[in-house]
Amino acid sequence: MRILKLLALIFLVYLRPTAAFTDYLIKKCSQSGFCVRNRHYANEIGLGTTAPVYSVDRSSVKISTENHTITAIVEKRFSTGEGPETLVTLPLTLDIMNGSSIRFTIDENRDHIEGPLRLNSRRYNETAAWAFSPDTPYSLAEFKTSRSVWPFSRSYLQLNSVSGLVSIRLHYASFKLEIFYKKELVFTVNDRSLLNIEHARQKELNQRNKSPAETTFSDFSDSFRYSKDDTLPFGPESVAMDFTFHNIENVYGIPEHADSLRLKETVASDPYRLFNVDVFEYDLYSGMPMYGSIPFMLGSRPGLSAGVFWVNAADTWIDVSYESQGAKTHWMSEAGILDVVLFLGDQPSDITSAYTLLTGRPNLPSLSSIGYHQCRWNYNDEKDVLTVDSQMDKAEIPYDFIWLDLEYTDNKKFFTWRPDAFPNPLKMLKKLHRMGRNLVALIDPHLKVGYEVSDAVEQSRAAVLTSQNDTYHGHCWPGESLWIDTFGECGITIWSSFIQRFVDKTKNLFIWNDMNEPSIFSGPETTAPKDLIHAGGFEERSLHNLYGLSVHEATYNAMTQVYGDSSRPFILTRAFFAGSQRTAATWTGDNMADWGYLRISIPMCLTNNLAGFPFIGADIAGFSGDPSNELIVRWYQAGMWYPFFRAHAHIDALRREPYLFEDKIQETVRKVIRLRYSLLPTFYTAFHDASVNGTPIMKPLFYAHPELDETYKIDDQFYLGNSGLLVKPVTTEGETDTQVFFAAGLFYDYFTLESLEIHRPGHYLVNAPLTELPVYLEGGNIIFRKDRYRRSAKLMARDPVTLVVAPTAEGVALGSLYLDDGETLLYQGGDFLKVEVTLKQNELISQVVNSPDTESLSSSNHIERIIVALSRQASLPSVAKITQGNTTSQREITLDPTSHFFVIQNPGLVVGQAWSVVFE
Ligand SMILES: *[C@@H]1O[C@H](CO)[C@@H](O)[C@H](O)[C@H]1NC(C)=O
Ligand SMILES: *[C@@H]1O[C@H](CO)[C@@H](O)[C@H](O)[C@H]1NC(C)=O
Ligand SMILES: *[C@@H]1O[C@H](CO)[C@@H](O)[C@H](O)[C@H]1NC(C)=O
Ligand SMILES: *[C@@H]1O[C@H](CO)[C@@H](O)[C@H](O)[C@H]1NC(C)=O
Ligand SMILES: *[C@@H]1O[C@H](CO)[C@@H](O)[C@H](O)[C@H]1NC(C)=O
Repeated sequence: MRILKLLALIFLVYLRPTAAFTDYLIKKCSQSGFCVRNRHYANEIGLGTTAPVYSVDRSSVKISTENHTITAIVEKRFSTGEGPETLVTLPLTLDIMNGSSIRFTIDENRDHIEGPLRLNSRRYNETAAWAFSPDTPYSLAEFKTSRSVWPFSRSYLQLNSVSGLVSIRLHYASFKLEIFYKKELVFTVNDRSLLNIEHARQKELNQRNKSPAETTFSDFSDSFRYSKDDTLPFGPESVAMDFTFHNIENVYGIPEHADSLRLKETVASDPYRLFNVDVFEYDLYSGMPMYGSIPFMLGSRPGLSAGVFWVNAADTWIDVSYESQGAKTHWMSEAGILDVVLFLGDQPSDITSAYTLLTGRPNLPSLSSIGYHQCRWNYNDEKDVLTVDSQMDKAEIPYDFIWLDLEYTDNKKFFTWRPDAFPNPLKMLKKLHRMGRNLVALIDPHLKVGYEVSDAVEQSRAAVLTSQNDTYHGHCWPGESLWIDTFGECGITIWSSFIQRFVDKTKNLFIWNDMNEPSIFSGPETTAPKDLIHAGGFEERSLHNLYGLSVHEATYNAMTQVYGDSSRPFILTRAFFAGSQRTAATWTGDNMADWGYLRISIPMCLTNNLAGFPFIGADIAGFSGDPSNELIVRWYQAGMWYPFFRAHAHIDALRREPYLFEDKIQETVRKVIRLRYSLLPTFYTAFHDASVNGTPIMKPLFYAHPELDETYKIDDQFYLGNSGLLVKPVTTEGETDTQVFFAAGLFYDYFTLESLEIHRPGHYLVNAPLTELPVYLEGGNIIFRKDRYRRSAKLMARDPVTLVVAPTAEGVALGSLYLDDGETLLYQGGDFLKVEVTLKQNELISQVVNSPDTESLSSSNHIERIIVALSRQASLPSVAKITQGNTTSQREITLDPTSHFFVIQNPGLVVGQAWSVVFE
C-alpha cells in the first residue's frame, strides 16, 4: 500500500508539466486593476446588498423598422451620499442580424472629457472594423415589436424576427436582454447585473464616481511592478457584462489557452485571460494569456448551440462557472466600447458558420502550404538550405516549404539578407522552385534602430509612439528597436513598400510575422506599454489584441499586390485576433519536446478550429529540447493531422530533420509524411469546406455527433473535416494501446479496412504499437487520395486518384472532392472542379457539381483505383458495370476471402466527368 502511494507520488511528480515559463512576469487577476475591480463588483452584487444601477430610459427607445435598428439610452444612476446623484448616459444600439444573430453596443459619450491632446477622447469603437469581414455586407433582419405584454406591460420591449426564430426582450427597469431561439430562452444578458461601465471621471473626483458596488484599485496608477510607468490618462474605463447560457452546460472557445477543449470553471482560479503576449514554454492547463486572442465563445448541447462574440481588443478576463441549468460567464475588458454579437443555432457548426460569415471565412491556402514544412532556428546559409532540400529527396520524404528563422538577416535587420551567408537569395529560390518548393522568411514588426528601414519609418512617423508623442524605443532581438504602426494609412503604406521590395522578382518567397503580440523584452508583461499611442490617437490599451492582425494583414495585402492573381500569399502569424483567419495561418508558439505539450496541442488546435481559425499547428516535435525517438514518432503521427504541418526546432536543439533519424524511426516518419501527402486531396477539400462555411478542419467529436452527450467532453481525438476520418493520436509515453470513442455504426480501420461494428457508443480499447496510429474511416464516407510519392505537392498535380468507399451497414456512402490549380486565385472566378460521389443501392455515382474553365483540371486526373470496404455482413458483388459518357465496360470482381475490401483497378474513369459504377 505504502509502496503504491509512493509510486503514485513519483508518478505525479513525473507527470507534472515543467513550468519553465517565468509567469511572474504576467499579471494575475489580483495584480490587474480592472480585474480586481470587476470581480469585486460581481461579489458585491452577488451578496445582494446593493441595487443595480443600470436601467433603460424608456422614453429614449427609438425603433427604426426602416433600418431595422433599435436605439436607446442606458442610464447609470446612483448616489454616494456626497453631492448630487450621478447620471451617466450610455447610448445603446440593438440589431437583429440576418441568420439568427443579435448585436448590441453600449458606448459612452466622452466628448466633454479631456485626455492629453495627443489622444482621441472617445472610446475605441473600431475593433469591429478590423474583425468583421469587409466582404460580408453587414445585413440586418426585419423584425416586429410589441411594447406591451400583459401583465408586464411597459416593463420590456419585445422584438420578434420576421423569420420567427429569434425574439428579444429588452427590460427597462434593470437593463437586461433575454434572447429566445425557437421560443426557448437561450441567453440572458446581464442576468446577474454585472454590467459595469467605468465612466470617465477626474482623478480628484474618483471616489464620488464609484457606485456602491465599485471599488478602487490601480485606477489612476498601476501597482504591478513591471507596469508602474503606465500613465493611465483616462483612469478606470473598463467595460464588463455577464451572459448566462440557459440549459447549456458546455462552453468552448476563447483561444488562445493551453487548456482543455471544454472550458473549466474559474471559480477557484484566475479567470481566462485574453491578452496577446510572448509566453516562451508556456504553462499547461492554465487560463493564462498567450500569443493570440479570439473573444468568441461557443455553448453547445444536443439540439442547441449558441455563441458570444465579445468584440473588444483590449486586455480581457473571462470568468466561467457551470450550474446544473447552464453556464454563467462574466466578461471584463480594460477599455473600448461594449460591442457584442450573439449567435443562435441548432448545431455547433451553425454557430461557427455564422461567426465566420461575420468575421470572414478562412482563406483557401495554396495546396503547397498544406504539405509538410521543414523549419529550424536556423538554416545557416544557402548551402545549408539546399542540402536539407536534397537530403529530403534522397530520403524520399516529400516536403513543400523550407523556413528561415531570424539568423538569415544581416544583423537582425528585417528586409535584409546576411551577405556572407545568403549572397544570392534569388538563385536559391529558383533552385527550390524547380521542384515546386517554397521558402518562408521571418519578418517581424520590430525594426532595429538606425538603418534605412527604421529611419524611414521614424521619419514618416509611422512607428508606434510613446505617451509623450515620441517614437517608442524598446528591446527585442536586434537590441534597441522601434515598432511599425500598421493601424494607420501611413504605417500600412510604408510597410507595404518594404514587403513588396523584399518579395519582388520571386515566385516562392513567403513571410512569417513572428513576435507580433508585440513581444518586447523590455516591456511590461513582455509586451508593449499600454499607454503607447497608435494612429488615430488611440492607446495600445484599447487595441492591443489587434496589433498582430494589423501587421499580418498589411503583409498579406502587400503581397497580393505583388503576386496579383498568380499566387495565394502564405503568411504565418504568431499573434492573432478574430478575423486573422482571412489572411494567415498560425501555430501554438514556443512549446517543448515534452509529452504534455504534444497532448495539449490537440485541444488547442481544436479550439482554434471551432473559433473560425482552423489553419493551425504545433511545432513538431517540440520547439525546445531534444525529443526521444518515441516522442518524435508519436508527434509526427499526431502532427500530420494538424491543418498546418510543420517541424521546428530551437537553435540549441540538436538537428532533427527526418532524414537524420535512425532507420526504424525514419521509416515510420517517412510513412506518416507520405500519408499526409496521399491524403492531400481530402485535406484540400476540408480547407475548401472551411473557406465556404467555416467547417473545422480538425473537427471536435461533438461537431460530428452533436446528438451524443458523451462527445462534449472528448478532446483527445477528432475528425478530419467532413471526411469521416477519425483520429486518436497516442500522446502518452510507453502506451501501446489506447481508448477510442466510437459513435454507433460501422467503422473501418484506415490501414486494413477491417470493419468494426459498434452497437453502443462508447470507448473501446484498440491496439496502437509505436509504428501504428489509430485512424478509422466512419461508414457512410468516401475519401480521395493520391498515392504516388512525389517530392512536393505541386508535382502531384496530374497524379491519378484513388477512391476509398466506406459504406454504412445499409450500403450507403457519400463523399466530395474539391480540386483547383492549387496556386492561383482563378478559383474565385469559378475555375475549380467539384465532384460528389454517392453510393446507394449498389450504384456508385459521380456528379460534377462545378466544372472548371481550365480543361486540364477536368481531364487530367484519372482514377486509378476504387477501393470498396466490406463489412462482415456485406455480400460481395460479382461484376461491376462502369459507365462514363457513352462508353460502358464490365469487370469481374474477385476477392481473397480474408480480405476486407475489393478493388477495381484502372476503371478507365476521369475524375472531372460524370460516371457510374453498378455492382451486381
Ligand atoms: C435610419 O435611416 C434613416 C433614413 O435612412 C436615417 O436618417 C437614420 O439616421 C437611420 N437611423 C439609424 C439609427 O441608423
Ligand atoms: C506630435 O509630434 C509631431 C511631430 O513632432 C507634431 O507634429 C505633433 O503636433 C505632435 N502632436 C501633439 C499632440 O503634440
Ligand atoms: C465610432 O464613434 C464615432 C464617434 O461617436 C462615430 O463617428 C463613428 O461612426 C463610430 N465608428 C464606428 C465604426 O462605429
Ligand atoms: C437580410 O434579410 C433581408 C430581409 O430581412 C434581405 O432582404 C437581405 O437580402 C438579407 N441579406 C442577406 C445578406 O442575407
Ligand atoms: C457520345 O455522346 C455524345 C453526346 O452525348 C456525342 O456527342 C459523341 O459523339 C458520342 N461519342 C461517341 C464516341 O459515340
